[in-house]
Amino acid sequence: MSDILPIVLHPHRALRQVAETVTDVDAAVASTLHTMLETMAQANGIGLAAPQVDINKRLVVIQPEVEGEPGNRKAKSATPPLLMANPEIVAKSDEMIDSEEGCLSIPRVFDVIPRHAWVKVAYVDEHGNPREVEGEELLGRCLQHEIDHLNGVLFIDHLSRLKRDLLAKRYNKILPDFVEDTPYPFTQES
Ligand code: NI
Repeated sequence: MSDILPIVLHPHRALRQVAETVTDVDAAVASTLHTMLETMAQANGIGLAAPQVDINKRLVVIQPEVEGEPGNRKAKSATPPLLMANPEIVAKSDEMIDSEEGCLSIPRVFDVIPRHAWVKVAYVDEHGNPREVEGEELLGRCLQHEIDHLNGVLFIDHLSRLKRDLLAKRYNKILPDFVEDTPYPFTQES
């Protein structure tokens, strides 16, 4: 597998599928996770789910310890990334927090989305070991966003219809510029 995969852009059928559970985290799965990590870094992202690179498996990579504004984030390399198979929310706070969110598959548009203030996620790491991680703030938000991707859900689905329509107009206007700049490899066919 190459070091970088093209990221599919909304609307693409791959973003709307329910991804399949990984039955065995073997060397090939670990390799896919590392390729996803490279792809995410190339795209200056903080999280990436396998459906975003047209792989229909429940795989997620996250590197949430970043500085900078949405759209211009820079990873702090000292913090190890999370490489996750079959991540699942096993506990969450009742409290919800609003914050701005974006997505590499819906580039250059952002909006405020409510998320649980805290989540606990069970997953299998790249060595096949069961693990848990707890997250709040950016990590908690990122976990919820990426797990949504595995269920064919995008952050725009959490907006009111009015906001979603406005954002769709902005996105359609912005997309030709993005395609011309090609800041990261992407694919559009659906
Ligand atoms: Ni996303």
